[in-house]
Amino acid sequence: MRTVKLLSIAILAGAFQLGVVSMVFGHGDVQPQAVDTEGLEKLPEEIAPENPYRLMGGEQYTLAIEIGASAYNSNCARCHGLEAISGGISPDLRMLEEGQFGDEWFMERVRKGYSQNGTYKMPPFQEILSQEAMWAIRSYTENQPL
Ligand code: HEC
Repeated sequence: MRTVKLLSIAILAGAFQLGVVSMVFGHGDVQPQAVDTEGLEKLPEEIAPENPYRLMGGEQYTLAIEIGASAYNSNCARCHGLEAISGGISPDLRMLEEGQFGDEWFMERVRKGYSQNGTYKMPPFQEILSQEAMWAIRSYTENQPL
């Protein structure tokens, strides 16, 4: 009995969250945030196959993680959860594969988003975020503890 009740609460909470998400995107009154990547090394136009800031290491990587934290909070947290801890509706980004394989998948999804039956479950960010900002977010999520 108890588990059934908990389950239905979880489902209700999920439905509510989805409703909020479609409201947010339906009205366009919550603008995705441009990200200030000042201090991060500029990247060539072509999308890198692997997180360039992780490869650079040192201060560039530290700064990328810092910038990524705020970029994540203003663009991704409402679906993927505060501090990248998913509430279960959208995937937990800390669980992505490490290294280049995870990087490629990350960039693919973030740039193109994800749509199902003609509606976006996740909006594409390629027109909104610079490549520098996307890698900064990846730097942040890959360093959030599980
Ligand atoms: C409107 C809600 C929403 C927003 C905002 C959003 N996402 Fe998503 N995201 C989703 C959903 C839903 C999925 C699951 C799609 C699927 O089934 O692959 C997803 C999938 C992903 C995946 C693939 C995860 C996996 O395990 O396969 C990545 C990476 C990702 N999102 C990154 C981001 C980043 C980075 C941002 C912010 C720049 C962001 N998302 C913003 C809803 C969102």
